[in-house]
Amino acid sequence: MKVFITREIPSVAVKLLKESRIVEQVVVYKKDQPIPQKELLKNIKDVDAVISFLTDKFDRLVIDQMPKCKIIANYAVGFNNIDIEYAKKKNIIVTNTPDVLTDSTADLAVALALACSRRIIDAEKFMRAGKFKGWKPKLFVGMELRNKIFGILGAGRIGTAVAQRVYPFGAKIIYFSNNINHMLEKKTNAKRVSLNGLLKKSDFVSIHLPLTNKTYHFLDKEKLKLLKKSCILINTARGEIVDEKELIKILKTHKIFTAGLDVFENESQINHELLKLDNAVLLPHIGSATIEARTKMALLAAKNVIAVLTGRKALTPVN
Ligand code: GLV
Ligand code: GLV
Repeated sequence: MKVFITREIPSVAVKLLKESRIVEQVVVYKKDQPIPQKELLKNIKDVDAVISFLTDKFDRLVIDQMPKCKIIANYAVGFNNIDIEYAKKKNIIVTNTPDVLTDSTADLAVALALACSRRIIDAEKFMRAGKFKGWKPKLFVGMELRNKIFGILGAGRIGTAVAQRVYPFGAKIIYFSNNINHMLEKKTNAKRVSLNGLLKKSDFVSIHLPLTNKTYHFLDKEKLKLLKKSCILINTARGEIVDEKELIKILKTHKIFTAGLDVFENESQINHELLKLDNAVLLPHIGSATIEARTKMALLAAKNVIAVLTGRKALTPVN
């Protein structure tokens, strides 16, 4: 059987695939850029499995070109890049990499929250610009997490892990979720609230929703208007969940304090207006970028492939 990997992943996973008796050939697209669609179509024609990235679009057109394929193992927790319904129709199992990147992504959300609340990036730039001339009472005055209302939007694994990190800082946790999260409530004393309630009350809003048809522009112009002037908005989920143009407007007019963003609406062409803002901390989508998470993501993707190709159940299917 043949496995195609659309970009390089930690070699332990390639090794695992090769050691499995079922996989005879592993082909890796080695350029450090998203695979162009033409290349992708050429390579997937005769594959039994694909390991894909969030930068690869698997729509009907692409899925129709892989008649033998049994599994698309996405190297990400999000899978909005894949038409999972259509894949299912074609008997292709789609898997993701949940859990293994929860700690890394939650760590980064907290890092962004602190970078915003303590103005760490601006302060660091100030140092490097040679502007520091000694201690000053009003230099980069930020705020503490203690007694601040920390709103978790989407209380899945990552949202829960973020709450568990900021709770010991003294933050008061509220969350919006379709379901009650008993574990979250028990461990962090969190209160479930309405969406509008969360947006109106929170000093921090951290987004942990998956991107679906229902969550596209979940925070639109009207919802963004509800945020407090002192609010810090953190997004480590997907850029499309927030109407970015509207977010830029409210940042420009200082309707919120800061945004800490690891994800953007159009990641291959970042909106230049964002780069001009001094009240935004911008990171290049590095939520899961740790040795630990990336190694486990690669192994989980490979194990999903091996399981499906040997006729066993996928470990983490999404369709
Ligand atoms: C990263 O954004 C992921 O979905 O894993
Ligand atoms: C889902 O994306 C989660 O792990 O929270």
